[in-house]
Amino acid sequence: MPKYISCLLCTMFLAIAGNSQDLPTDYLPADFHKERREAVRAKLPPNTAVVLFANAERNRANDVDYVYHQDPNFYYLTGYKEPNAVLVLFSEAQTDADGNTFDELFYVQERNARAEQWTGKRLGVEGAKEKLGFDMVFNGSDFENFPLDFKAFDHVSFVDFHNDYRDKSGSADLFDLIKTFKVKANYPADYNPVRNELYKRIAAVTPENSKEVAETIERYMERYPELQEDDILNDFIGANNEGIRDEVKNKVMVIQRSTNLDSSILPKVMAELRQDKTPEEMKLLKRAIEISAVGQIEVMKAMHPNMSETEIQGVHEYVYKRYGAEYEGYPSIVGGGHNGCILHYIENNKTKVGDDLVLMDLGAEYHGYTADVTRTIPANGKFSPEQKAIYDIVYNAQEAGIAASVVGASFREPHKAALDVVTKGLLDLGIIKDAKDARIYFPHGTSHYLGLDVHDAGTYQAFRPNQVITVEPGIYIPENSDCDEKWWGIAVRIEDDILITENGPINLSGMAPRTTEAIEEVMKQPSPLDSFKLPKLD
Ligand code: GLY
Ligand code: MN
Ligand code: MN
Repeated sequence: MPKYISCLLCTMFLAIAGNSQDLPTDYLPADFHKERREAVRAKLPPNTAVVLFANAERNRANDVDYVYHQDPNFYYLTGYKEPNAVLVLFSEAQTDADGNTFDELFYVQERNARAEQWTGKRLGVEGAKEKLGFDMVFNGSDFENFPLDFKAFDHVSFVDFHNDYRDKSGSADLFDLIKTFKVKANYPADYNPVRNELYKRIAAVTPENSKEVAETIERYMERYPELQEDDILNDFIGANNEGIRDEVKNKVMVIQRSTNLDSSILPKVMAELRQDKTPEEMKLLKRAIEISAVGQIEVMKAMHPNMSETEIQGVHEYVYKRYGAEYEGYPSIVGGGHNGCILHYIENNKTKVGDDLVLMDLGAEYHGYTADVTRTIPANGKFSPEQKAIYDIVYNAQEAGIAASVVGASFREPHKAALDVVTKGLLDLGIIKDAKDARIYFPHGTSHYLGLDVHDAGTYQAFRPNQVITVEPGIYIPENSDCDEKWWGIAVRIEDDILITENGPINLSGMAPRTTEAIEEVMKQPSPLDSFKLPKLD
């Protein structure tokens, strides 16, 4: 390389590396991630190696990729926000040839001045040690030659590769790291995690549950047609006595012993950990939720019938950015009238919301943690009698759902409570004649966990303190529904983010008004946007 070019690269490198900027300082601390890795180790079976990859980069079109978003499990355990990395954790300390001990290895993107000029600063090995607190950090290209014998472990635990990932130019990208892992860990070309899981159930089957296991297998075979050709599964469901089932079980146990690969341990461990929020996580999650509630309030003030769904979305998202929330936790949903009946409507392209209700389901993502808040408001500032009648049912259903969100209650309780109220309300208004038809107008569940993912990892067992869930009943009445047409086009969802505590549920998004009266009051208030005029374009 000519000397002047290498000097130029050096200068660029130093400029990027040494650039001191005003960056947020309230990210999760390195100690949090370290402690979470300890918590994973404590839940692993003995002699287990965990291998976890960074998320894939995804192409949008031509040479433009989607904005990169780290895999939430990977972020939770490392704090690393870049692609092309792999974390290896061991249940017990390992000793290398020189007698050094270690219980984790971290492979990251190599620093590269030219790449960093185009796509941003990389932490590199030194940055990962200094900022994220890892001891054993290497460049991704070292993964291949590190003397790691996966055969020596009883379990090699990983999350199977659902994501598309491309072989980009250059070495040690995600494609290469996964390829290396597959070779090192003897990953069979036809590995199928669902089949593996079903084999495990067969291996553990007892005469008491063999019928139930066979039914489960049949259900999975319907859902995953590729399993329908599997001889072992067919033999098991076709067996008409325990003797034959035992033979199949023995065959499966031999197959199981031939691999130590396991893609079920890690998702389960991560769900158990991520569902209970630590104080550090709560700080960020609460911030994301408060920001989203303020967004709802500001939109209530700014709303008028001539606004477009796109503009309404823009006001929410502008508020998020004003507070430093980097992203939205999921594509924003802003649906006027009938559009609100489409549960995950994201086109948001109606040019005028008119006198309809506007359903707004949006969540700021703050340092990785996302809110999920829905308000439904009348664009003209006043609920019509029909809109109010439906709204009040949903409001009462939500109140019942929140009240049911208590320590020890089963995860289904908020939904049962909300569905009861919706069913009674729809019967009273004559919208349905039969209780079972309530599902036509309330077709989704009421609650999910919230955290790094909008539908966060969790076990969906009885509630425990420090879990955060949504309570989000809705009623959606599309055009041509089998009821009086005065109800058509009314769609209402109210969604709040609820912290489970020993002292009962706390509504973290309650700052955004929920009753019809409170919403109408806020909508009367002036908005700074009233005087924000832009030039007319031809
Ligand atoms: N915003 C997606 C949901 O409410 O689950
Ligand atoms: Mn939700
Ligand atoms: Mn939502």
